Amino acid sequence: MRLRHKKWAPAIIARHPDTALGPEALEKGLPLFDCLEIGSGRGRFLLEKAKANPTLRFLGIEINYNAFSIAIKKSEDTSYLPTMKNYAFLNVPFAKALPLMAKGSVREIYLNFPDPWPKKRQFKRRLTFPSRLAEYYGLLKKGGKVFFKTDNKDLFSASEQYFAQFGGFAIEFSGIYEADDPSDVMTEFEAKFRGLGQPIYRIVARKE
Ligand SMILES: C[S@@+](CC[C@H](N)C(=O)[O-])C[C@H]1O[C@@H](n2cnc3c(N)ncnc32)[C@H](O)[C@@H]1O
Repeated sequence: MRLRHKKWAPAIIARHPDTALGPEALEKGLPLFDCLEIGSGRGRFLLEKAKANPTLRFLGIEINYNAFSIAIKKSEDTSYLPTMKNYAFLNVPFAKALPLMAKGSVREIYLNFPDPWPKKRQFKRRLTFPSRLAEYYGLLKKGGKVFFKTDNKDLFSASEQYFAQFGGFAIEFSGIYEADDPSDVMTEFEAKFRGLGQPIYRIVARKE
């Protein structure tokens, strides 16, 4: 994601100490979150999910400072702002945050349009690689779910195999996704790809 440095970002972030979290939050200790988005980008998905589910707590982890800043700015738009402030964005690499989170505490994990890492030597970085699935499995409660969406057919097909290889998850859905799940939210990347007429693939996997 190419984003120019945003001059307004530090001031906006400073206005939201409870919902715009940086690396210092890892030292303080993260509170519990019910739902996690890994690579939350510009934040539309997380904010809309939080607004629709005021009793759940949502965390978006995003490595890119500008994308994180845009999400925080978006949260100032009253149409997005849940009255409960039941969300936070965390600006760190997800690999630093996940090991600090409580095992068996999470209901849902969202992997929305993650980087495809197409070269063989990069496969282990994919968010659906079996070693990552094991990490999500540890974080999820029994019956908790991973929701994965991508426009990348190769990543989708490989991910079907990664889930099969890992075991442990029951696959509730795997295939072309027609955006027909009323509990789902279209992400910024998804809107772009759907606008280009590209098929979107989805896997929904439940921890058994
Ligand atoms: C292709 S974008 C998708 C953004 C958003 N989920 C969407 O669907 O619109 C992938 C996002 O993952 C973020 N990302 C990549 N590596 C990450 C990491 N190690 N930790 C946290 N976020 C990461 C990128 O900065 C980028 O915002």
